[in-house]
Amino acid sequence: MIRRGTGLLVLTIAGIIFTILQSWLIKEPEELNITDIKQPIILWWKKYGTEGKRTCGEFQCYFSANRELQAHPFLNAIIFYGTYLSFDDLPIPRPRHIQWGLLHEESPRNNPAFVNEEFLNLFNYSSTFSRFSDVPILQIPGIEDLMTTKFFVPFEKKDLLISQDDFAPLLYIQSNCDSVNDRDAYVSELMKYIRVDAYGDCLNNRKMPEALKHDYLEALCDEEFYKFGARYKFTLAFENADCEDYITEKLWRPLIVGSIPIYYGSPTFKDWLPNDKSAISVRDFVSPKELAEFVEKLSKNQSLYDEYLAHKLVDRTLSLKNERLLSLYSKKPQGITFEESLNEFECHICKAVSTGNKSKKSVVTRSHFSCPNPTSALTRKVNPKNPWVDFWKVSKCEAKLIAHYVTNNMRINKTVFEEERSKMYLNKEC
Ligand SMILES: *[C@@H]1O[C@H](CO)[C@@H](O)[C@H](O)[C@H]1NC(C)=O
Ligand SMILES: *[C@@H]1O[C@H](CO)[C@@H](O)[C@H](O)[C@H]1NC(C)=O
Ligand SMILES: *[C@@H]1O[C@H](CO)[C@@H](O)[C@H](O)[C@H]1NC(C)=O
Ligand SMILES: *[C@@H]1O[C@H](CO)[C@@H](O)[C@H](O)[C@H]1NC(C)=O
Ligand SMILES: *[C@@H]1O[C@H](CO)[C@@H](O)[C@H](O)[C@H]1NC(C)=O
Repeated sequence: MIRRGTGLLVLTIAGIIFTILQSWLIKEPEELNITDIKQPIILWWKKYGTEGKRTCGEFQCYFSANRELQAHPFLNAIIFYGTYLSFDDLPIPRPRHIQWGLLHEESPRNNPAFVNEEFLNLFNYSSTFSRFSDVPILQIPGIEDLMTTKFFVPFEKKDLLISQDDFAPLLYIQSNCDSVNDRDAYVSELMKYIRVDAYGDCLNNRKMPEALKHDYLEALCDEEFYKFGARYKFTLAFENADCEDYITEKLWRPLIVGSIPIYYGSPTFKDWLPNDKSAISVRDFVSPKELAEFVEKLSKNQSLYDEYLAHKLVDRTLSLKNERLLSLYSKKPQGITFEESLNEFECHICKAVSTGNKSKKSVVTRSHFSCPNPTSALTRKVNPKNPWVDFWKVSKCEAKLIAHYVTNNMRINKTVFEEERSKMYLNKEC
C-alpha cells in the first residue's frame, strides 16, 4: 500500500511539472477570427474530425466544431457523428442550402432512429458500413495481416489443446448479452450439441486466463489476445445486428489468427472473404444441431478442416480468390481504417459543396443503412419478448417526428417531443 501511495504521489508531481512545462512550451492556438475564413465552412455538429483548414485535391474547406460558425455566410454543410446525435440538439432551423452529412460506422444498437427512411432522408451524404453509402466504412485488415502465420496454430497442436488442456473446439467471447438478434439464444442451443468455451459475461463457462483478465475489451487487438484466440479451431463470430455490410473485427480477428469464424450478422459477409471457404455461415444451416454436426465433422478431419484455412496454408496467389478483395488490395494493400474513411468523407463533402451543382440532388436513403427489424438468430423470426423490438418501434415514431420538425423548421422541445412520441407509439402510428 505504501509503495503504491508513493508511486501515485510521484506520478502526480510529474504530471504537474509536465503541465507547467507544456504551457510554457506550447503556445495557445491563435483565437479564431471568423472573418478571416475564406473557404467553404463545414461544421462538425459535435467535435469529431478535422479542426481547421483542409485541402482536398484542388479544393479547400474550413472544418470546425465551433457552433458560432452556424451564422457564417460561408457555412455549407454540417456533419453529424451518428452516435453523438440526439433529437433535442439539432441545428434547426435548417436553411435550404445547408447540406447534412452523416458519419456512422456503428450498428443501430446505440441509435435505432437511423434504421428509418424518414430520418435518413434528412441527410445529403453518408459514410456508413454500407457499400451504397457515399464513402463506405470498410474496416478491412491489410493483406499481410490476413495472410500472416504469426499467430497460426496447426491442427495437431489444436488437437493436443483439446485432449490435454481440456479446450473446447469452439471459442465464444461476448459481454453484451442483450443483443438485437438474440445471439445468446442460438449459442446456448448450439452448446447442447458441441462444446464451446465461453469466456465473456454471456453464457460464461470458463475463466479468462489471468494475463488477459484485465480490460480484455480494451485488449482485443493485443498480440496476447490474438495468440489466445489462435488456439481454438473455431470462433463464434456473431455481430450485434444483422445489417447489410455491417462486418466488424468479430469476423476479421479469427481470420487473422487462423481460427475458422462461424459467422452470423451481415447477410452479405461472404462478399469479403478471402475465398469461398474461409468461414462457416450460420445461415447455411437449418438449426444449431445441424451446424454442430458439420463443425464436429470438420473438427475431426484435418483435410476437411484445413480447406478453410487456405489463406494461412496455401500460397497467396492460389488462396486469395475474391476479386473484390484483390482489387481493393491492389490499391490499398494496408487495408482500410476507420480514420481513412473519415478523412475521405470530409473531402467528399468538401468537393460536393465546392463544385455545387444546384440542380443535382443528393439524399441519403435506406440502402445506406439497411438493417431489418430485430429477428432472432435462433428462430429467424421476430421475438416479441425481445425488448429491442419495442425499442425499434419507438425509434420509428421518433424518426417520423424528427423529420416533421426539421422539414418544417420547428425547434424541438424535449418534453413536448417525448409526449408526442409516446402518444404516437400508443396509437400504433409507428
Ligand atoms: C478580424 O479580421 C478583420 C479583417 O481581417 C479585422 O478587420 C478585424 O478587426 C478582426 N477582428 C478581430 C476581433 O480581431
Ligand atoms: C476426411 O474427409 C475426406 C473427404 O471427405 C475423406 O476422404 C477422408 O477419408 C476423411 N478422413 C478421415 C480420417 O475420416
Ligand atoms: C448538374 O446536374 C444535373 C443533374 O444531374 C446535370 O444534368 C447537369 O449537367 C449538371 N450540371 C453541371 C454543370 O455539371
Ligand atoms: C439535402 O437534403 C434535404 C433534405 O432531404 C433536401 O431538401 C435538399 O434538397 C438536399 N440538398 C441537395 C443539394 O440535394
Ligand atoms: C417545453 O414545453 C413545456 C410544455 O409546453 C414548457 O413548460 C417548457 O417551458 C418548454 N421548454 C423550453 C426549453 O422551451
